[in-house]
Order: sequence, then C-alpha cells, then structure tokens
Amino acid sequence: MSAVAVIGPHLIDVLGRPVSEIPAGQGSVVLDEIRVTVAGTGGGAAVDLAKLGATVSSFAAIGDDVLGRLLVTQLHEYGVDTTGLVMQHGQKTASTILPIRPNGERPALHVPGAMASLRPADVNGAALLAADAVLFGGPETTPRLLDSEGIDMFGAVRAAGIPIFVDLLYPGRPETLELLGPLLPLIDWFMPNDQQLRGLTGVDDVVEAARILLGRGVGAVAVTVGEHGALLVRPDADPVSVPALPTTVVDTTGCGDSFNAGMITGLLSRCSAADAALIGSACGALVASGLGSDAGIEDLHGVLNLVSASNPEAGHRIADQLAAARSTT
Ligand SMILES: Nc1ncnc2c1ncn2[C@@H]1O[C@H](COP(=O)(O)OP(=O)(O)OP(=O)(O)O)[C@@H](O)[C@H]1O
Ligand SMILES: [Mg+2]
Repeated sequence: MSAVAVIGPHLIDVLGRPVSEIPAGQGSVVLDEIRVTVAGTGGGAAVDLAKLGATVSSFAAIGDDVLGRLLVTQLHEYGVDTTGLVMQHGQKTASTILPIRPNGERPALHVPGAMASLRPADVNGAALLAADAVLFGGPETTPRLLDSEGIDMFGAVRAAGIPIFVDLLYPGRPETLELLGPLLPLIDWFMPNDQQLRGLTGVDDVVEAARILLGRGVGAVAVTVGEHGALLVRPDADPVSVPALPTTVVDTTGCGDSFNAGMITGLLSRCSAADAALIGSACGALVASGLGSDAGIEDLHGVLNLVSASNPEAGHRIADQLAAARSTT
C-alpha cells in the first residue's frame, strides 16, 4: 500500500441539484438531492486516494466549527489520518455552496475560512518524508507554505526522492505564477485544468503554456481538459493526449481532484504516465456521474473495470502492472 501525504485545501462542499436558477425574493425550489462532502484539491483527493487503497494523511488548517468536526469525522470514515489537520480557534472551515445546473455545470459560492493560515511549522516534515508521494493541492491558498521555510520543507521532500504533485484550487492568475516561482523546480507533476494553465501563463495554447512551466523547472505537466480528457506535456517529448471515458454527467465537481488521485495511484505502481493518466480519466468519469466530489468511485477495482470497458488492452496492461507492483512491495 502506498502512503500519500496530502497538503492543502480541505473544504466542505454543500451541493444541490438540479438548480436551473436561484428563485427571486424569498422563493424556493424543490431539488432532487442535496449532499455534504469533503472536497478541495486536498480533501477531495485525500478521500479518492483512500478509496483507491492508499494510506493517506491530511495536512491543512480548518476551523473549530461544526463543518471542521464534520470534515474530520468524514475523513476518519475513509481511514484518512487527520492528525495533521490544525483546528484554528475562532475561525471557519473553508466551504463552498454549489448549485449544480441540469447540465452538470457548477457555479461556486465560497468561504476560504482558515485555509490560508497554515504555516510550515504546522506541517510535520518527518511525516512528509515517510510518504511515497506528496500532493500539494492549492498552493496559492496557503502562501505561508511558500516562504523560505516552506520551500526548504518541500526541498527536503524532493531531495529524498519523494515525488511532489501540485494542482491549483482557484482560477489561474499571472500573480499566482510568481507566487509559485520557488516551488516550480520542486514539482514532479503539475496538474491544473486548461483554464487554470491559460490564466497562469496568459498563453492560450495549452502545450505552449505547459512548456512555459517546464521552462521554469516543473518536471512534467498533466493538463486536464474536462470532457476532452488530459494532455501530458514533458520535456523533450511530444505531448500525449489521454482520452476522457464515457459517462453520464451529473456534476463535474471534483473531477480534477479524482484525476490526480488516479494518476498518483498509477504512477506509484510504476504504470507509464499515459496509463496512470487513463486511471485518472476513469476516476474523473466516475466522479462526474454523481453529485459531489466523492461520488462514483468505490475502489480501484471499479476504476479498472471502467478502463477495461472502453480499452480492454489498457485495462489488462494496467491490472498486470498494479499486481506486479503489489507483489514487490
Ligand atoms: N464531462 C466529462 N466527461 C468525461 N470525463 C470527464 C468529464 N469532465 C471531467 N472528466 C474527467 O475528469 C478529468 C478532470 O476534469 P476537469 O478537467 O474538469 O478537472 P477540474 O476542472 O480540475 O475539476 P475540479 O477542480 O472540480 O476537481 C478530465 O481529464 C476527464 O478525464
Ligand atoms: Mg481542479
């Protein structure tokens, strides 16, 4: 079993569907479904990684409120180690209200809460060094982790040969690229969506935009493009396109977080990057099929079944590789 340390936004999502419009005045609408989930580029991925069989530990700042307690309880249900969650007295847990449109789109009403207060001293560096991989989700939401002490901490992880995966929570902005500057050379895989990558670099062509990041030291870029799948861009290689898998879209919240969880799972089992991304795509397709970022995924077996259904050859190859990796650990 691989151990993954997940640092970054752990939020509570409150989602309802279908919401065609917010009624005027004091009007009300009856919905089919309302759910509360642990979400975010940290929390959402932590839940998915645990479902896929990883040993997961979470690191984030949350509030000492009902939502914070709910978040901890939910993570425990998935077996996630929450000792790295810091409850900030008097602060709110980050949360988002998501009225999901009939076509699965999702406007977001968001409270950042305690998220940004996480400091390097709050993160147990020894725990990071004991992991097989570190996922640093939403670094733009925790600017203190990008100070010299934080960069030293990630530098030690990198120096120990532990791969670092990074995704963004918020839309990409040029100033975010500058904020991330010292972190970029420490990143093995950067995994934003296409809009975030464009916003970050100001460049419309995603391959060109990804190459800007490679030029700033990032090891490799996996850009997710919603229903169009993902694109892998690495130095000295042609971009590799990875398809999305067929699904009936209910809500796309958390598809990117699940893609990251699937891709990390594949890479830690030494699958090729393209096969790992295919596991990610299958996770994204499953999450899109239900309400909330934890919907659809049961376990790795179910994810592989979806890969096999659309690409039996890849399904066999990946299953063999996962079995081989299990037998050597
Ligand atoms: N409509 C869809 N149909 C099939 N697969 C999808 C769809 N939307 C997303 N996916 C899968 O999920 C992956 C990630 O989706 P997306 O690019 O929307 O991430 P995201 O915008 O980062 O999402 P979030 O930040 O909410 O987690 C895609 O690469 C794709 O494989
Ligand atoms: Mg995302």
